[in-house]
Amino acid sequence: MNSELLVSDASHFRVDYQINPYMDPTVQPDTEAALAEHQAIVAAHLAAGRKIQYVPSAPECPDMVFTANAAVIRGEVAVLGNPPRERKTEIPYFRAWLEDHRYEIVEAPYAFSGQGDALACGDLLLAAYGQRTDGRMLPLLADELGYEVVPLRTAGERWYDLDLAVGVISPDTLAYCPEALDAPSLRTLRGLGLELIRVAPEEAARFALNLVSDGATVTMTQGAPRLAAELRERGLEVVELDTTELAKGGGGIRCTALALDNPPAALWP
Ligand code: ARG
Repeated sequence: MNSELLVSDASHFRVDYQINPYMDPTVQPDTEAALAEHQAIVAAHLAAGRKIQYVPSAPECPDMVFTANAAVIRGEVAVLGNPPRERKTEIPYFRAWLEDHRYEIVEAPYAFSGQGDALACGDLLLAAYGQRTDGRMLPLLADELGYEVVPLRTAGERWYDLDLAVGVISPDTLAYCPEALDAPSLRTLRGLGLELIRVAPEEAARFALNLVSDGATVTMTQGAPRLAAELRERGLEVVELDTTELAKGGGGIRCTALALDNPPAALWP
């Protein structure tokens, strides 16, 4: 889980439009700093023993560094993302990479934020709808990927993707921000029988939950010392990185890493 990741790069990362509340086109990232930040994230994945695959970013795609929205993948099957208009030009690049690497491609007929709204947790897929993902995607994800889909809704635009509100630490442990989910979703999450770590909205708003964990090492942003301490107390290795530039696009570490190695279902054809 999360041992093979698809990344792009920050060479063309800009804030050209506003499709989430964190983006402000008058506040542009510093390209050098963004490149360094992204390279440090990739270096941390490699140091944790993860394998990295790479799709170069295209000049006309200022958000392409956020590969998580390109698809959600289980085994050999990739369900492509269907992002807002501003990001549609990214999809053919990711599609080509996935086709070249022999993934079976499924197109999303409705709005779909890819892994941004679809977090694998063992045989469960925590899937949000109502913002960047149309609810009609959930049965399709269950059919195509063989997951038991757990439908969730976030509590407002600040949590435009589920990966800002919930972080999967291991198949039996989730970190989550209660204020970022609506009441029925909280009940659903608390009823799953998983170990839950609460994260304060101040830390979640700094993208604390937008983390990559393989169950041994957690790669996360700086600025969330309480979550970092809690994870260390549980025996996890925690690597905290600067994500100041990426945050100008409304993203963090999880957003830049599409998991390529979600294990297929044991009894799936
Ligand atoms: N600017 C990008 C957008 O609004 C950020 C995407 C972040 N990705 C994520 N998985 N949360 O689409």
